Amino acid sequence: MSGLKLIGTGGALPAREVTNGELTRRVDTSDEWIVSRTGIRSRRWCSPGESHTALCLTAARQAMERAGVGPEEVGACLVATFTGDRMTPGTSVALQGLLGLPEDTVCFDLNAACAGFLYAVHTASRLLPVNGRRYGLVLGAEVLTRVTDLDDRSTCVLFGDGAGAAVVEWGEDFPDLCAVMGCRARPETLCVPGVGTGEASVIRMDGQAVFRFAVEALPRCVTQVLDRAGLRPEEVDRFVFHQANQRIIDLAVRKLRLPPERCAGNIARTGNTSAASVPLLLNELAERGKLRPGQRALCVGFGAGLTWAGALLELGIRS
Ligand code: COA
Repeated sequence: MSGLKLIGTGGALPAREVTNGELTRRVDTSDEWIVSRTGIRSRRWCSPGESHTALCLTAARQAMERAGVGPEEVGACLVATFTGDRMTPGTSVALQGLLGLPEDTVCFDLNAACAGFLYAVHTASRLLPVNGRRYGLVLGAEVLTRVTDLDDRSTCVLFGDGAGAAVVEWGEDFPDLCAVMGCRARPETLCVPGVGTGEASVIRMDGQAVFRFAVEALPRCVTQVLDRAGLRPEEVDRFVFHQANQRIIDLAVRKLRLPPERCAGNIARTGNTSAASVPLLLNELAERGKLRPGQRALCVGFGAGLTWAGALLELGIRS
């Protein structure tokens, strides 16, 4: 048995807060509609001077400082995203230079949409024993405003920008992640067309189809991770769910009969930040002293593709 511990977190949000009230002046919507359908009250949007790389750098530095891990100790740097500053090389490669990571640190970006951070955590758990260094830097980061039609009321109210970072430690005797991952090819449900399609590269979504998928996938991932771990829900200290829509989370919490106080979210202030959502929430919980050493957090992400992932993170937060 080998696995990971989460030992440090960091986060970065753009300075500009966009409230529902501001959106009512841009598109035909209302605060009441957005709050009642999604739970979102405001989100952060990048301004021209802010970049994906800069958000990631801030989050990564914070996580490394809190974990007490120096650049020379990092064996893998993975960034889950589909909205980086360049098509290639990835933001992870930029971080190698900016953070001074050794050149044999495995650095790459990966795209599994809103499930990406957990795909990256799982990938790090497999790469670190090969690389030989114990510590991995795993980020989820998006500048979704780059791929959102800001005049389309059905999508612009949902999405926000941000970056979350985690430092993980690999150990031979650490508990397994009990990760589950999967995908189903349904791009018509939620996708961002690419340059080869001739279509605009903006989020296209069948909201009701995504909703039906999410209320099935989220509880299924939780149950599968618990089964793999041989745990009951009451043995998990925190449930950290992708912040797509408060209604989706509330339905899953009720269906699984989870204690709501262990399922706290931040969607009201961040909106849906895709791959950044789970690490940003982990960071917020850590900052509020809600992730204590020895505890366990069950995390789930789901989104475009369709993709999904769940994992059990052992917590060894150092500060
Ligand atoms: N403000 C006001 N009205 C809006 C609106 C907005 N921002 N966006 C859509 N509407 C309108 C629609 O045009 C439609 O009007 P019509 O009845 O006159 O045609 C009406 O509201 C209902 O639209 P519908 O799409 O059926 O609403 P809904 O109840 O399904 O809620 C979502 C829409 C997007 C909030 C909901 O489907 C959802 O949350 N889906 C999941 C989305 C998600 O989580 N995506 C990311 C996954 S990672």
